[in-house]
Amino acid sequence: MKPTLLLLSFLAVSPALAQTPRPGVNYDETKVGSDPLPDLKLTTAEDWTAKRRPEILKLFEDHVYGKTPAGIGTPKFEVTAVKKDALNGLATRKFIHISLPNRSSWPGMDVMLYLPNAEKAAPCFVGLSFVGNQAVSPEPDVPISTRWMRPSKVKGAVIDGRATEASRGNSSSRWPLEMILKRGFAVATCYYGDIEPDHDDGWKDGLRAAVSPDGASTVWKDGEWGAIGAWAWGLSRMADYLQTDPQIDGQHLAVIGHSRLGKTSLWAGAQDERFGFVISNNSGEGGAALMRRDYGETTAIITKAFPHWFTHTYTRYSGNAAACPVDAHMLIALAAPRPIYIASAAEDYWADQKGEFLSGKHASPVYALFGKKGIAADEPPAIDRPVGDFIGYHNRTGEHNVTDFDWTQYLNFASRHWGR
Ligand code: GCU
Repeated sequence: MKPTLLLLSFLAVSPALAQTPRPGVNYDETKVGSDPLPDLKLTTAEDWTAKRRPEILKLFEDHVYGKTPAGIGTPKFEVTAVKKDALNGLATRKFIHISLPNRSSWPGMDVMLYLPNAEKAAPCFVGLSFVGNQAVSPEPDVPISTRWMRPSKVKGAVIDGRATEASRGNSSSRWPLEMILKRGFAVATCYYGDIEPDHDDGWKDGLRAAVSPDGASTVWKDGEWGAIGAWAWGLSRMADYLQTDPQIDGQHLAVIGHSRLGKTSLWAGAQDERFGFVISNNSGEGGAALMRRDYGETTAIITKAFPHWFTHTYTRYSGNAAACPVDAHMLIALAAPRPIYIASAAEDYWADQKGEFLSGKHASPVYALFGKKGIAADEPPAIDRPVGDFIGYHNRTGEHNVTDFDWTQYLNFASRHWGR
């Protein structure tokens, strides 16, 4: 790992330390700056849908995440295993391999789907995981991912870039399957590295090289997609499959992601309106946090540490966020009028909790165009007090993570909006 990367990941996992002022990182609310946000230029709901929304989507393609190439090909779905008595009979578990027959150098994605054992087709949460299906599920018969993986905080869970038996169930607290299934929802997940390994050169072994005419010799240009774009594409292919599964209510798909995968969830939800509910869990900079606020991680830091996540153009805004024609409130607004939820964590200063709240707040006028309430409050709510109607927000006790508290709010929000 590069020294900057090491320092940044250390900061990200050590919120107590992250509060300590350190060179280049601001945690002082009086020093966040006051650059005005780009104007949403609102007129009517019709104008938003026909004109302004596509303009803003294009700005995010050009300046932040890059454009998803057209003509990638038609995905093939193979249901490779079905277990009807998963989780002690609570669920049916399926594995689905998604591939692109015309892009055989891309190894494809292995999706794990848990469905409640019920008559009715189930609404479904769709999200990528950091460590593979075997880490999400507590069940011992889930195949261990064989793909490249980043080092794990859990000793022995990833050795020489591959997951081991020690990774089983390591992420299960972030995916409370029983709780979700008992509420009548299904869950579809996949390891994000199936789509593209998450490191500077990961794209060479992933989808982006497989679909680029220049393959692994591609020199990425301004406006071309980065890893977040590729991961978001994967989420949409999961939606493609889910819409073919009769046990899934394909009209009610929620896209969810944590941290860098929260940024991905927002971008997937912006591009793919089949996601009727969009969830950002602690997505921070390059996600729900306003980039014009100099607090915690900044564009300068993220474009240096993780340039492969974004389009090349985004580096122009390093130390110069005010020049970017978009900010996070516009990304949230791209979900309108669908329900969206933004979650912060009280110790996750790195992600700038207030910046995450304000993006929801400032996206609210777009929801108002559709006669829907976003966030009415001007100031962030007290810890553990969810607010908002079509834009939900909370700042939960604790650190950068996904917890039962977070899921409880997402389930409640989905039930409320979808009448389930
Ligand atoms: C780093 C990065 C964040 C990101 C996080 C994660 O901390 O700086 O932007 O959200 O990693 O994905 O875990």
